[in-house]
Amino acid sequence: MPDTLVLMFHPSPATSRVNAALAAAAATLDDVAVVDMQALYPNGAIDADAEVARLLSARRLVLQFPLQWYSVPPLLKAWQDLVLTRMYYIHPREEGDRLMGTPLLVASTAGNTAAAYTPGGANLYPLTEMMRPLQATANRCGLPWASPFFVYETGRLDDAALAEAGRAYAARIESWRRSVPGRAAALPAIAAPARIAAGAAC
Ligand SMILES: Cc1cc2nc3c(=O)[nH]c(=O)nc-3n(C[C@H](O)[C@H](O)[C@H](O)COP(=O)(O)O)c2cc1C
Repeated sequence: MPDTLVLMFHPSPATSRVNAALAAAAATLDDVAVVDMQALYPNGAIDADAEVARLLSARRLVLQFPLQWYSVPPLLKAWQDLVLTRMYYIHPREEGDRLMGTPLLVASTAGNTAAAYTPGGANLYPLTEMMRPLQATANRCGLPWASPFFVYETGRLDDAALAEAGRAYAARIESWRRSVPGRAAALPAIAAPARIAAGAAC
């Protein structure tokens, strides 16, 4: 039962350079479990029971992914649609309420430059703005939000820069853990009766 759960959503983990390096750096930290979700669910068929239990077993959550079309990769969206919908709209009392208070850190990698992600830059908006849907999700789910961790210009990172990105990521996770208390207790999932929450809306 880890303190910190890192869920990596990379569509092609075997060809990843940057996310693979970040995941490896995170995995060196005490009490961190890194899960390669694409490797676990290559055909996209996410095991909702297992993922709910996994979330409830940790005290902090990191969502790590490469930026794709200014958004999250398909498997991360599918995970939100399946796991978070179940927890917060189908079994809110048994599952969603129990996840509330779990701090969330988002970590994303981008091919373009930091300058591109500025007003007047090629991509118009800062990456922090492009993370607003995740921030709104965190707000809805009661997951305390932290300033995201970004790596830019992924295609230009040489080995030294890649190692530095890994060190920076590990340091960010550690400083976040020092500054934000984890959810009070790691909770086992409890059996939930099948029912649909009436009137639930984002
Ligand atoms: C389908 C696709 C869409 C992408 N969209 C963006 C994007 O919107 N903005 C950006 O800066 N980079 C974009 N990229 C570049 C990836 O974010 C980049 O290749 C990745 O972060 C590198 O990490 P990796 O070495 O772990 O694969 C895209 C790449 C792919 C394959």
